Amino acid sequence: MAVLPLEGIIRHVPIEGYSRMSGYGNSPAVASNSEPTTSTDTCCSVVDPPGIPEYLHSTYHWAYLSRIGQRLLDRPIVVATILWGNDQRLMKAAAAEFNPGQKILQVACVYGDFSPILARQVGSEGRLTVIDVAPIQIENCRRKLVSYPQTKLRVADAAAPLAEDVDGICCFFLLHEVPEEYKTRIVDNLLGMLAPGGKIVFVDYHRPHALHPLKGIMALVFRWLEPFARILWDREIVSYTSRANEFDWEKCTYFGGLYQKVVGVRRHTP
Ligand SMILES: C[S@@+](CC[C@H](N)C(=O)[O-])C[C@H]1O[C@@H](n2cnc3c(N)ncnc32)[C@H](O)[C@@H]1O
Repeated sequence: MAVLPLEGIIRHVPIEGYSRMSGYGNSPAVASNSEPTTSTDTCCSVVDPPGIPEYLHSTYHWAYLSRIGQRLLDRPIVVATILWGNDQRLMKAAAAEFNPGQKILQVACVYGDFSPILARQVGSEGRLTVIDVAPIQIENCRRKLVSYPQTKLRVADAAAPLAEDVDGICCFFLLHEVPEEYKTRIVDNLLGMLAPGGKIVFVDYHRPHALHPLKGIMALVFRWLEPFARILWDREIVSYTSRANEFDWEKCTYFGGLYQKVVGVRRHTP
């Protein structure tokens, strides 16, 4: 697939003037996954596993909580198609933000080979922790990481305190799948985990160029299948947190603006 020559890098160092967001709300969660699940094994620790958030059940059951959906969607060709051929490019751009030897947290499983890419990036001296709120996704991801002893998997909600000591956090195409209030909770929670020098990387949808040939199709996809995604065309990711001013930010866009990578590094001075 041809890559549109409409990319840009915007530097925001630092971002100022974001108004404070409201406090952490509570979104309803349902008791458990509808698929049979196992919650513990040698590389997957579960302490007080969270319930499945209501939005995941009502909107994305077919994609993430059903084994049939998982078998159909977790294929390289499907991932490449959903991302219009940008899958490897976006995954590599995200992974390249981290260094060998670092302790990295991947927030939410991703179909395709993103977790192995991150595991190779941190290398045998580093550590990759992958969390997901759905046990069925953790089971699936564990299979992809069996040959990477530097990895650990946990069932956990990205919006809840995680008690992980990390150098960096990667949040790859999660925010567009969660309701607004959850976006705020997740971004605030993740930023709060980072010490000075720590890095956060978001990769997600972004407003495409006005003449982007796929703009109409994507608007329809969002309307039918991804009701929480379209807002990212109008809202900056950094606007979801009251902690934006504690970080230096960089944003770059890809594929005619349809995708963005937003990188924040926590400043040493307040
Ligand atoms: C990262 S997103 C979408 C990624 C991409 N569209 C793909 O093809 O894989 C999908 C994952 O997010 C997980 N998820 C949704 N809400 C979550 C939350 N609050 N905390 C942790 N994981 C969550 C889902 O269970 C699912 O495995």
